[in-house]
Amino acid sequence: MSLTDMLATVGGFTLVFYLLKLAWRCWCGFREYVLSEHWQVDLRTYGQWAVVTGATSGIGKAYASELAQRGLNVILVSRSEDKLRMVAKEIENEYGRKTRTIQVDFTEGHSIYPAIAKELEGLEIGILVNNVGMIYTDSFACFLETPDAEQKITQVINCNVLSVPQMTRLVLPDMIERGTGLIINISSAVGVRPQPLLALYSATKIFVKYFSQCLHAEYKSKGISVQCVVPVLVSTNMTHNMEVNRFVKSAPEFAREALNTVGHSSYTSGCLSHALQNVALTVLFPDWFRMSTFLIRNLKKLPKMGKSDRRVCPSLSPHTSTNHWNTSPKFCRASSASPQKKCCHLPDEGAF
Ligand SMILES: NC(=O)c1ccc[n+]([C@@H]2O[C@H](COP(=O)([O-])OP(=O)(O)OC[C@H]3O[C@@H](n4cnc5c(N)ncnc54)[C@H](OP(=O)(O)O)[C@@H]3O)[C@@H](O)[C@H]2O)c1
Repeated sequence: MSLTDMLATVGGFTLVFYLLKLAWRCWCGFREYVLSEHWQVDLRTYGQWAVVTGATSGIGKAYASELAQRGLNVILVSRSEDKLRMVAKEIENEYGRKTRTIQVDFTEGHSIYPAIAKELEGLEIGILVNNVGMIYTDSFACFLETPDAEQKITQVINCNVLSVPQMTRLVLPDMIERGTGLIINISSAVGVRPQPLLALYSATKIFVKYFSQCLHAEYKSKGISVQCVVPVLVSTNMTHNMEVNRFVKSAPEFAREALNTVGHSSYTSGCLSHALQNVALTVLFPDWFRMSTFLIRNLKKLPKMGKSDRRVCPSLSPHTSTNHWNTSPKFCRASSASPQKKCCHLPDEGAF
């Protein structure tokens, strides 16, 4: 065989290999995001109760409602007693499921978990959604520019990182004993790729990814599924209730589609639009470009959102204002004539 023939054969095999790989990925994506609409796992088979952290607004509230709609009783865990009561009532009235509430502040660290354990005692917990998370700055900022850095570092790590293994520790033994259980951990598109100017947040979210993947590998043989969800942009308080469009999902729509992917994938973007955006972000903003001084300098120049520009959801408590932060170069500008219409956001590399 001549050298040319050999090279042609190697080239042919390589091409076939990549085509097969692409075809397999397309099939997995089709099954995960399209077929799953009609081919869903009955979530009640995991157990009677679902626990959702950060359940009074945004993605957490949407997961709690969707789980109730699919037949589970829900335990809502959040900071604000009033909001917990309101959401619990809403779920009971709308879906006729039982609810319980646990009022805790995850920024307080390890001291809160004995109380949570007591509240969960004796309940058949089938599903845990580790959703709670916080962001700490109103604009892209270097690490040392983090406001109240000394406190914020501990708070963010307690809330975004510590809560995930601690909540898991509380429910996993019983799940293993019953031989079934589902743990859903919410990471972020800025967690799966390093995102300068959001260093702490980005680092907390890669923890969620690795923890989920390792846990899934360790316990799948015992009937436990661990799913890591990687959203791009969802319209919530954290993203200033930005306008929903083909890039930005509403929280209920996101939760519905993401729950459809259970049983189809242990690592998911949650919906087709975010899956395509995650691919596009990887291709268009490779690590070397995202980490470049050029991009960092330009991101830092993006306008900082002034307090007067914030569109605050009327149901918000003062707590959530720390979460108000927008990644988009265009921000909501309140206008009495058209408070909604002037809100225009483009998804960009700074997505959560
Ligand atoms: N929105 C996005 O575009 C996006 C994208 C990627 C990933 N994520 C991730 O998705 C998760 C949910 O985000 P979201 O946008 O839905 O946020 P959100 O609208 O700000 O809701 C956060 C929820 O967590 C609760 N919470 C906040 N801090 C808490 C604390 N210290 N202790 C107890 N509860 C606390 C809040 O309720 P209270 O105020 O009553 O405590 C609220 O129910 C987060 O992990 C976030 O990182 C979001």
